Amino acid sequence: MSLAGFLLFSALLFRARAHYNFAHLIVNNTVTKPYEYVRMVTNHTFTIPDGGLPAKPGAPYGNQIPWEELERLMRPWPQYSADVLTANHRCGRDAWRPSLSTGIADVIAGESVGFQVESYVALMQQYDNITHIGPGLAYLAKKPDGIDLAQWDGDGDWMKIDYKGPDTDDTWSLFGQKQYNFTIPRSTPPGQYLLRVEHINPSPKSETEFYVNCAQVNILGPGGGTPPKSFARFPGTYKVDEPALSLPDGEQIVDSKARNGVRWLHGFLAYVPPGPTVWTG
Ligand SMILES: *[C@@H]1O[C@H](CO)[C@@H](O)[C@H](O)[C@H]1NC(C)=O
Ligand SMILES: *[C@@H]1O[C@H](CO)[C@@H](O)[C@H](O)[C@H]1NC(C)=O
Ligand SMILES: *[C@@H]1O[C@H](CO)[C@@H](O)[C@H](O)[C@H]1NC(C)=O
Ligand SMILES: *[C@@H]1O[C@H](CO)[C@@H](O)[C@H](O)[C@H]1NC(C)=O
Repeated sequence: MSLAGFLLFSALLFRARAHYNFAHLIVNNTVTKPYEYVRMVTNHTFTIPDGGLPAKPGAPYGNQIPWEELERLMRPWPQYSADVLTANHRCGRDAWRPSLSTGIADVIAGESVGFQVESYVALMQQYDNITHIGPGLAYLAKKPDGIDLAQWDGDGDWMKIDYKGPDTDDTWSLFGQKQYNFTIPRSTPPGQYLLRVEHINPSPKSETEFYVNCAQVNILGPGGGTPPKSFARFPGTYKVDEPALSLPDGEQIVDSKARNGVRWLHGFLAYVPPGPTVWTG
């Protein structure tokens, strides 16, 4: 890793309160096992520079962070602005690859489903919730005929079925939550889909963080809905520098009195999410 890369890594490591993975699908009011129905993602990789990574002054594990502590952050490690242009943005790191060990959950259209973040301990702290501010979005893409869902790379048309934005100018509805719940539109055409969850932490300077995972689902129901006119493609629809995904300089203000440590100059309610409008069936 270059010195610049290392400094950026250190800054991201220490600035970030935490990273998270939506590893549990919630269906029939039951939280399923981690990665039972959610495609596994690979760990973020990086090279530790000679001399190791220095710890924060006063860290309980001495002046250097042990590798085991860091490794636990590598699977929930987010993707950043540049990754929006890659296939990893579809379902998480490498989760566009065939995923034969992932189950397919029967889900009834019209019912509530959700995702719960994986709980883990790293850097002497437990992480079990959505620890960043920002919007949540959910998408569905129907598998084409002639291929198994487990083999499908998700390179298709994604309809947006939910959006959770800010509640007020200084709170976001998902911040601090363990789960993101939403409804599968009742008239969704039955069949096998990838169900994509996304939580975005909009930041300046291309440091926006994307937390993305996909569950494999088989939707049961009466169908009858007319799919929306506008879909999203991943990659394709999101632009690195669109206002939804890149805060202008000066917009984000560090403020210890704010509920989450930062506020935005123009308030959160002005936020307009990326992608097409929500299809409710
Ligand atoms: C999400 O749904 C589950 C299952 O019904 C429920 O136990 C949980 O409280 C819900 N979470 C939130 C944040 O609403
Ligand atoms: C990925 O990180 C986890 C800890 O989060 C670790 O248990 C696992 O061995 C790592 N996988 C690889 C392939 O290094
Ligand atoms: C959810 O409940 C429906 C109706 O009982 C059932 O058919 C389906 O298999 C259940 N899904 C899971 C993942 O347990
Ligand atoms: C979320 O996790 C962070 C990091 O462990 C913790 O500081 C915070 O108290 C948790 N928030 C809630 C609402 O549980």
